[in-house]
Formats: sequence, structure tokens, C-alpha cells
Amino acid sequence: MFRHRFFSPISQIETISVSTSFDIYIYTIETGGIFRPNVFLSDQYKNGNIGRNLKDKGKSHMNETTELLKKHVSVRQFLDKKINEDQVKELILAAQSASSASFLQAYTIIGIEDDKLKGKIAELAGNQPFISEGSHFFVFCADLQRLHQLSQERNIDIQPMLEGVDAILAGAIDASLAAQNMTVAAESMGLGVCYIGGIRDAIVEISDLLELPEYVFPVFGLVVGYPKAKNELKPRIPMAGIYHIDKYNKDTDEISNEYEETTRRYYTNRIGNSSNKTWGDGTVNSFHRLSRMGMKDYLNKQGLAKK
Ligand SMILES: Cc1cc2nc3c(=O)[nH]c(=O)nc-3n(C[C@H](O)[C@H](O)[C@H](O)COP(=O)(O)O)c2cc1C
Repeated sequence: MFRHRFFSPISQIETISVSTSFDIYIYTIETGGIFRPNVFLSDQYKNGNIGRNLKDKGKSHMNETTELLKKHVSVRQFLDKKINEDQVKELILAAQSASSASFLQAYTIIGIEDDKLKGKIAELAGNQPFISEGSHFFVFCADLQRLHQLSQERNIDIQPMLEGVDAILAGAIDASLAAQNMTVAAESMGLGVCYIGGIRDAIVEISDLLELPEYVFPVFGLVVGYPKAKNELKPRIPMAGIYHIDKYNKDTDEISNEYEETTRRYYTNRIGNSSNKTWGDGTVNSFHRLSRMGMKDYLNKQGLAKK
């Protein structure tokens, strides 16, 4: 922690506070307050990108929900404390309340309660031990099996649709919306989460362990638990790079360069695990390393993505 003087380009903001379950950081502009070195106020404001950590008291459209959303960070260190059954039910209900295209509800959530199984999945999913350290681990699966069964009972041939790529999109989208609802619900309860796409590294083995039937595949896992420590907020792409008006804006080089500078500063200054890389370096390298080339064969084996 060190002290830092900084100036806001937006004059009406006097105090910015960031609170986590563990710390409350108050940043006071006039006095120069406590400042976490990787949160760059000026960066957060470039190109209309209002920082996720800033409380703009003048704007009535901000509320508890949007403040919660903007404070999201993935949590990878958990206390040895279980969330209770009522909380789990509330999380599942929140997940189930998400929208669903054509009301297919084309997903299933598998809660992993067996510690040995959880440990095995943690190992298979890119060796990420914190999966076992969270209170709960949920595997979100795309699930077209129900639809398949209903169609058989009604003697309606939906095979061409089931085997099309759109069906896997429908399942993956439904699973994602449900998971994000669970994420927001968990964070609103003071819990922390981390998505685990790593389960797709060993999708065949994990599907076998979970005894997934045809027309079902795991999209990702979600670790949920009480945070022991929280990472700093990661700066996002400036808003103008993400939000285009009326047509796709291809002229975003300047924004990209600026974001590369911002993220180099973020990664260099971050507490623990610092490195001299940019967002571009990190994403291209990790995408390059992903070896999930067997996905089409796997999906075909599940009866999907044949068309
Ligand atoms: C679908 C998905 C899969 C992810 N898989 C992993 C994972 O396997 N391991 C991990 O540590 N983080 C994983 N993450 C978390 C991302 O790394 C994280 O969201 C991103 O770096 C942004 O950081 P933040 O969530 O702290 O803002 C995943 C996130 C998503 C949405």
C-alpha cells in the first residue's frame, strides 16, 4: 500500500470509495488518499470509460446493483467456511430465473458435493487446486437431452435441429445466463466466485466422471465460497472500444494502444503475480496455449454439432 496523489478529470467527484469484505479503501481527491497502485483513475475515465470502482454520487441512475456489478472480481482464495443449504437454494433459484431462449431451459447445474470427485475435477481442469478450496463447485452443462426426450415422447423429429450448431449455442447461452445470475446473487451475499473454463481441458474425462448422457456437455464450472482475499479490479477495455454506435467501428487502434498501456501498468504494478505484459500479450498467449482441438469430435460423440 502506498500513498498517491491524483487528480480527477471529472471535477464533481470528491471521494471514491472501494469496499470489499475485508477492506474499505477511501480515496480522497483533495488530500490524496490511500491508493492501490494498480487502480489508475485517469485510465478509468479515458474514452468515456467510467471506472468500475468509482462512485459517481451525482448520477441517480447508479444503484446498489450496478455498484455491485462494477465491483466484480474473480476470487481464487477462499475461507474454510461452508455456505449453507438455504444460500445454495437461493443461488440455484437466482440462476433458474434467468431468461432462456424459446424457454428451452437447455441447461443443467451439477453441484459437486463429493470432495474426492471435486479434487479429481480440480486436477483435470488445468490443475487449479482452489476449485477444491471453495465451499461449492457447480458444473454448468448445456443440456438438450430434455428436449430430445420430449420430442421422442411426441414423436416429432427434431434431430436436424439438435444436430445443428445453433443447438449448442442455445445450450451454452442458457448455461451462461444462469451462471451469471448465480454469480451476481453470490456476490450480493458477500460470496466470491470464479468461473472455471478449465473443465473443457478434460471434457471427455469430466463428462465420464459426471456420467453425462448424450446431448449434454459441460460449458464451465463455478467455484463459490467466502473470499479469503480479493484481487484488484481489472481495468476493462475503454467503453468506446466495446460499445459502437449504429455500425461496427473498425477504427479502434488508438483505443487498443491506450488499453495496452493501461494493462501493462496494471500487470506491472499488481500486488502478487506481477509481470511486464499487456492484455494483448496475456490473451493471445493463453488462447494459443489452449489445446481443445478435440471439441468437435467430443460434441459429435454427444450427438451434437454434426451439421
Ligand atoms: C467462461 C469463463 C471461464 C473461466 N475460466 C477460468 C479458469 O479456468 N481459471 C481461472 O482462474 N479463471 C477463469 N476465469 C476467470 C477469468 O480469468 C476472469 O473473469 C478474467 O480474468 C477477468 O477477471 P475478473 O473476473 O477478476 O474481473 C474464467 C472466466 C470465464 C467467464
